Amino acid sequence: MICKLKNIYKKFDNLDVLSNLNLDINKGKIICIVGPSGCGKSTLLNIVSGLIRPDKGDIIGDLNSVGYVFQEDRLLPFKTVYENIAIVGKEKNHKKIMDLINDVGLDGFEESYPNKLSGGMRQRCSIARAFYFNCEILLMDEPFKSLDYNLKANMIDYLIKLWDKSKNSILFVTHSIDEAVLLGDKIIVLSNRPTSVLKIFNIDIHQSKRSLTNDYITDVRNRIIDLLIISNNKGE
Ligand SMILES: Nc1ncnc2c1ncn2[C@@H]1O[C@H](COP(=O)(O)OP(=O)(O)O)[C@@H](O)[C@H]1O
Ligand SMILES: [Mg+2]
Repeated sequence: MICKLKNIYKKFDNLDVLSNLNLDINKGKIICIVGPSGCGKSTLLNIVSGLIRPDKGDIIGDLNSVGYVFQEDRLLPFKTVYENIAIVGKEKNHKKIMDLINDVGLDGFEESYPNKLSGGMRQRCSIARAFYFNCEILLMDEPFKSLDYNLKANMIDYLIKLWDKSKNSILFVTHSIDEAVLLGDKIIVLSNRPTSVLKIFNIDIHQSKRSLTNDYITDVRNRIIDLLIISNNKGE
């Protein structure tokens, strides 16, 4: 366990966002957070990263270095692919940078500037950068949201490849249940606001062996959909 959130509460003005939320973050695992839009997923990541403080509750375990990947790529426009990755490292490790560039399929584009790349390529570059940064945990906030269906499937494969090599701890927020069941060792399903954990699913199949047509994965997917539908109806 690298970090544990205990009985977390967070309000914005009069809006109760997180209410008695508990979360264990395991080392070297991918933990996916799914939940309705506006339930507080980004708020939760911001609490884990220390950007915002909860009103009540404990965060056990200090995270000193946190990597972030957002929905938009946030690359520096005046730096090349290579330089955008290199910039987050303390000392330049040329081989590691080139390996990462290869791993995300950007070989041949190391000297390209972001405006010469497609949206999917830019996001692959920002994910490679996140893995170059030596962090204790990688927080990913709906990183594939703006990509079309095929690109998303590719990104999931690239991410699994990078994670498999690095065994980084990842907290991956998504509203896509498909992404969650393909990526998560653990899937945390959140309720509507005021938000707490509805249910936790553990999937013991290695990510590289999963597919949306696999019976077990389909079963977990359907159970999550049912939970979210029931929770949504209760909220109305
Ligand atoms: N800094 C803030 N000030 C006021 N309200 C906020 C702030 N940040 C988030 N909220 C509100 O808190 C709720 C949860 O937001 P957010 O964590 O972004 O949800 P999600 O990422 O699940 O879509 C939303 O209703 C949002 O409008
Ligand atoms: Mg969000």
